[in-house]
Amino acid sequence: MTDPQDAIDAETAQWATERDPRVAEHTAGEVQEGIPFVGAGPGDPGLLTVTGKELVEAADLVVHAGSLVNSDLLTEYCADAEQVSSIGKDLEELVPLLRDAYESGREVVRLHSGDPAVYGAAVEQMDALEHEGVPTYIVPGVTSAFAASATLRTQLTLNGVANHVAFTRPQGKTLDPESDHVGEFVEMGDVTTCLYLGTHAVAETMDRLVDDGHDPDTPVAVVYHASWPDEDVIEGTIETIGERVADAGYRASAMVVIGDAARKAGYERSYLYGGFANGERPDDSQQEADD
Ligand SMILES: C[S@@+](CC[C@H](N)C(=O)[O-])C[C@H]1O[C@@H](n2cnc3c(N)ncnc32)[C@H](O)[C@@H]1O
Repeated sequence: MTDPQDAIDAETAQWATERDPRVAEHTAGEVQEGIPFVGAGPGDPGLLTVTGKELVEAADLVVHAGSLVNSDLLTEYCADAEQVSSIGKDLEELVPLLRDAYESGREVVRLHSGDPAVYGAAVEQMDALEHEGVPTYIVPGVTSAFAASATLRTQLTLNGVANHVAFTRPQGKTLDPESDHVGEFVEMGDVTTCLYLGTHAVAETMDRLVDDGHDPDTPVAVVYHASWPDEDVIEGTIETIGERVADAGYRASAMVVIGDAARKAGYERSYLYGGFANGERPDDSQQEADD
């Protein structure tokens, strides 16, 4: 097998100068040739897409993201398949596992949590497999920020409150402090900041925001295991949430939502359904812009 980094370098060099023809041939949701990288959704098996469910039901081998994928989903939809957790496996182990199963004619699914395109490290596996001659494609899933907003019964964009959404992560082992932009997103004011991979560091992250002069009363909601049976919601502010999460003992698997949208506070009715007393109704193009 080619060294995974060399394979990634070769694939990215190729696509830097030419376009993968499949981009123009296929749309998301279409079943294609190769190994599908399926988004399992946030946890509840009901939040797996119809295409994702059909693919895992037909699979002989499902390589999944360990405890980030609800075991109920594996039991309900792929009990007959061989199930392998990817936790603790590097590309050197994963790529031959997936390749050999695919080349021996088995139906193979790579199951990521949430959506594979958000903190999923899917593309490096896909590139390494493509380099080995194994086609791959993505089947999207519901990312955990969307499950968290549904749990909170809010919108991540909310008229008059938040016009933007940031999917981000705080500094830590993988991200150095200069690349941590949490404070910048919070500073913008009309951004709902969704922190992935930050459950273990809520207190430190919030302390940094306070030290940097951000409004300590900014609302924060932490949704642990959104859509799982043991889902839990902890609400507070930049000032209070760290201690509350520490008291609850959560160190992983939570979505931290920062901003007024987390509390559904102070929004205004939208232009889309805006009261048309002046007779000026939005047309379809405006509807698309506001939907
Ligand atoms: C490696 S990332 C994977 C994200 C995933 N690809 C997605 O789209 O949700 C794992 C992080 O996603 C978040 N996460 C995943 N599932 C979650 C859930 N059910 N509820 C809340 N947060 C979740 C947590 O912040 C966790 O640290």
